[in-house]
Amino acid sequence: AGKIRKAVFPVAGLGTRFLPATKAMPKEMLPVVDRPLIEYAVEEALAAGIEDIIFVTGRGKSAIEDHFDHAIELEAVLSGRGKEAELAAARGPVITPGRIVYTRQQEALGLGHAVWCAREFVGDEPFAVLLADDLVMADTPCLKQMVDVHSETGGSVVAVMDVPREHTNRYGILEVGADDGKLAEITGLVEKPDPADAPSTLSIIGRYILPPEIFAELDRHETGAGGEIQLTDA
Ligand code: G1P
Repeated sequence: AGKIRKAVFPVAGLGTRFLPATKAMPKEMLPVVDRPLIEYAVEEALAAGIEDIIFVTGRGKSAIEDHFDHAIELEAVLSGRGKEAELAAARGPVITPGRIVYTRQQEALGLGHAVWCAREFVGDEPFAVLLADDLVMADTPCLKQMVDVHSETGGSVVAVMDVPREHTNRYGILEVGADDGKLAEITGLVEKPDPADAPSTLSIIGRYILPPEIFAELDRHETGAGGEIQLTDA
C-alpha cells in the first residue's frame, strides 16, 4: 500500500461539551500540561510521516492558524534574551511552508461533512484523519502504528478503545469479524448505538486511515445519528 502523506484535522466543532472554557477559545487550544491539544495531534501526524496538513476549520478558530505560524515579536524577544528552551517551545513543530492548508466547514453538518470539505486537498490517495480532542499517549504514536498496519493490509484502519457498554451511545462502535486481540477485522460500523443494540464495545477513537473512495459516499450527504453526516455512515 502507498504511503500516507496527508492528514485532515477537522477542527470546526463548536466545543459545546467543554463550555464555558470554549466560549471564546477553540477546544483544540485547550492546554494539556504546557501545550494545546492540537499540537499533540500535529506532532503525532508528523511522527507518522505525514507531509501535508489540512485543517477543516470554522468561525472563531483563527487561534489555531496563529499557533502554527511564527510569532515574530515573541521569538525576537526570547532570542534577544538568550531563552533557548522558551524559543523552541514558541516555535513548535516544524511545518514546511505551503504544506499546511486551512479550509472552512461553513455549516456544522457533522464529522463526515467536515472530512468531505477536505476532498479537493486530499485528492485520489488514502489519507489520515485525526480528531485532536482524543489525546492518545503511546510509546509508538497511535497514527504511526496505524500507518504500519495500513502498509501491511492496505485497508482502512481506525483506532479503537474498549468502552463500558453503557457508554456505547457516545461513540462510533465497530462490528468485528476476525480478531487477534490487537488487530480486528471491521465488518460494520454504527454511530452512537444504544447499549442494547451495540454490536460490540469497541469504540472508534479519533484516528482514521481512509481511502479516497469515501468521498463518493460522503457526496451523497446522507445523515445519521444526531441528524448529522457521520463518517461512520460512509
Ligand atoms: C466522533 C465520531 C465517533 C467517534 C468519536 C471519537 O464523535 O463520530 O464515531 O467515536 O468522534 O472521539 P463526536 O465525539 O465528534 O461526537
